[in-house]
Amino acid sequence: MTNFRVRRSLADTPAYIPGRPPAAVEGMTSYKLSSNEHHLEPLPAVVDAITSVSGTPALYPDPAATDLTAALARFHDVPTDHVVLSAGSSESLSALVGITLEPGAQVVYPWPSFEMYPQLTSFAGADRVAVPLTPDGRHDLPAMAQAITEHTRLVLLCSPNNPTGTVLGDTEFDTFMSQVPEDLIVVLDEAYVEFASGSEAASRIRTEDGNLDAPVDADQALDTYSNLVVLRTFSKAHGLAGLRVGYAVAHLAIIHEMRKSIAPFSVSAAAQAAGLVSLAVRDEVLVRAKEVGAARDDLSARLREIGIPVPPSGGNFVWLPFGQRDATLFAEACMENGLAVRNLGAGVRVTIGPPEAMERLVAVATTFMEDRDA
Ligand SMILES: Cc1ncc(COP(=O)(O)O)c(C=O)c1O
Repeated sequence: MTNFRVRRSLADTPAYIPGRPPAAVEGMTSYKLSSNEHHLEPLPAVVDAITSVSGTPALYPDPAATDLTAALARFHDVPTDHVVLSAGSSESLSALVGITLEPGAQVVYPWPSFEMYPQLTSFAGADRVAVPLTPDGRHDLPAMAQAITEHTRLVLLCSPNNPTGTVLGDTEFDTFMSQVPEDLIVVLDEAYVEFASGSEAASRIRTEDGNLDAPVDADQALDTYSNLVVLRTFSKAHGLAGLRVGYAVAHLAIIHEMRKSIAPFSVSAAAQAAGLVSLAVRDEVLVRAKEVGAARDDLSARLREIGIPVPPSGGNFVWLPFGQRDATLFAEACMENGLAVRNLGAGVRVTIGPPEAMERLVAVATTFMEDRDA
């Protein structure tokens, strides 16, 4: 028996395809550059926090994650009931889908962007309204505003955008929000925000009139828009992907509903403790994010030099917009050289890794471009 009574929407739901591990290649170290993980060792204080709570696995963790929630509320300067923790920001995203969608509803999101957006939308039986990015990899906010209808229940924005790395500007964001009905929830997914500071992607945003603009400021935006939800995670710059801890900040009316969808005890005691310490040493986290950012900007420049039009990225990854055929060939060439990268169809996303991995990536890309153009 294999025909179970499952949701009809599953037939149209793409499964999440995790980043591939690298193949073992004789004589070289393999690198996984396919899941946007942090390649640096966790900070010692964070490791200490994790090991000091591991002695009590028989007990459930604090279901309210009291200390970490309070620390995050202070950090964002909001009341504690404006913050909810979850097992990674993915669980917050699922909760937002859970509280808004049903069959017939629509979700407006940019594309290419995070693969969970179409997956969760389809799973809920809702309709995917994927708005293509502009040719330079940015959200097409005017087109996204136009795509909103009376059936739209959720709008998803991603800054820096996974996989293109582009960062939303303050002015374009405000213009967009002024066109969105006040009762429609808009999600600003900032999983990679710590890597954006000082990046080319964040410092060269232009308004329509050609003036320089600042990146959107989530805390200020939360103050202004009661229909805005900001998603953050400890998985990326904080380097805690394996512990599963992320959160949402929003008006308490939204957080209250999200709590009904988030599993109780979904954030382990170790994850709560690690998050608390990592937030306390955020300055050190940001120093390491800058290091990754410098490697990213260096890689981007070298790839552009050999003719790959890499958009300025504010994440811990770069986007190589190859198109379908070359994306497959390039991902294969990387795999043969012990590098797992992410082939997303329209292009290839490469996570910033250690210097040796970046050197090898440039070497593979150089040979690939020479052979392609020969
Ligand atoms: C844009 C974006 N948002 C959210 C997530 C979810 O991360 P996590 O659930 O580990 O917090 C990811 C992970 O890759 C991502 O790329």
